Amino acid sequence: MAALPTEILEDEHRLIIRVVNSLNIFAQTMEDGWEIEEEVFSDLIEFMRIFAEKWHHAKEEEALFPLLIKRGVPATGCPLAQLTLEHKKANNFVSEIVKFMELLRKGDPDARTKVIQGLRDLSSYYVNHIWNEDNMLFPMANRILKDDDQQMLLREFSHIDKKHGKPLHDHLENFAKRIEEETIGS
Ligand SMILES: [Fe+2]
Ligand SMILES: [Fe+2]
Repeated sequence: MAALPTEILEDEHRLIIRVVNSLNIFAQTMEDGWEIEEEVFSDLIEFMRIFAEKWHHAKEEEALFPLLIKRGVPATGCPLAQLTLEHKKANNFVSEIVKFMELLRKGDPDARTKVIQGLRDLSSYYVNHIWNEDNMLFPMANRILKDDDQQMLLREFSHIDKKHGKPLHDHLENFAKRIEEETIGS
């Protein structure tokens, strides 16, 4: 039997967490006076922008959440509006990290602490957000959604996957595994 749509999202969470775990290590590295290599930093931002924001959040905001609303979950308040707002906050954290990293490279001495804080904020944000989805939202979704709904979600997820393509998925997945090995696993 095919995986449940929420199991697909949970697998994606595990991939995101691999990268998120490395954010604290990078923050510590910078606090100790070292720099993040430019290429690693740009891969990190690419992963957060494409895999987390455009790919994973799209499955939630464009497929799962609207279907839950159709099945009677309120569009406002907790959990759906709250989780959608948190996605926007995550995007803002990433934008802030990019902005302050550029300022740091231009020689702004205050930017270093902002980048470090941004990396830590983004990390703790994702850990909490993912915990809430895995433990609260997804069990609720599986109680509410019928088999037909689950099948429809699987089709919509597959459509979103096709839009980005398997080569890009493999590239981002490899990055997540590599970054975890390099920062945590060694
Ligand atoms: Fe989410
Ligand atoms: Fe999620």
